[in-house]
Amino acid sequence: MSAGQEKLKLGVLGSGSGSNMQAILDAIEDGTLDAEIVLVLSDNPDAYILERARKAGIAAEVIDCAGYATRFPEASQIAVGEKLRDAGVEIVCLAGFMRIVKAPLLEMFPGRLLNIHPSLLPAYPGLMAWKQAVDDGAEESGCTVHYVDAGMDTGPVILQARLPVLAGDTAETLHARIQAEEHRLYPAAIRVVAAGL
Ligand code: GRF
Repeated sequence: MSAGQEKLKLGVLGSGSGSNMQAILDAIEDGTLDAEIVLVLSDNPDAYILERARKAGIAAEVIDCAGYATRFPEASQIAVGEKLRDAGVEIVCLAGFMRIVKAPLLEMFPGRLLNIHPSLLPAYPGLMAWKQAVDDGAEESGCTVHYVDAGMDTGPVILQARLPVLAGDTAETLHARIQAEEHRLYPAAIRVVAAGL
């Protein structure tokens, strides 16, 4: 992006610790990602991702899911889409967001919704993919950044990072190594997508 142009505006949706959001922020701060995070949204009012965002001076809000524990009702998706649009968001990054995004939110950001998943998709979609890999005796694991579609962890892959599963790896040790790779991969994948916009 040349001088004088506005920075690429990112929105981040997460339900938990927000270490991936932090990694994106760190890449922006160290100059390896030319972007800014303008809005962070969470369905979990207690999620640390909200605190991280506020500490960094980023607008952070709780998504009202109408009392549903796991569903992401249509009205909530529309409200989220409108907030993201109002903030000028160009790319939406799901980072540990635990609800399934469908239409209408998908249709509001076609080709601009990304997710990070802790496996080499299409292997081990769904929850606790690192544990699935260890339990299955997999020799290799890793992480994937992909475009979001209406399925669960099924959209087209943007980038993957591969890791061996080591002898003696537990679900926890593998998860820690995968997360370290995620923190490198997500900013790299955003650069790839941004270059194609
Ligand atoms: C990551 O492991 C990601 O792959 C998965 O959820 C976790 C989120 O971690 N989808 P964090 O909130 O970014 O620390």
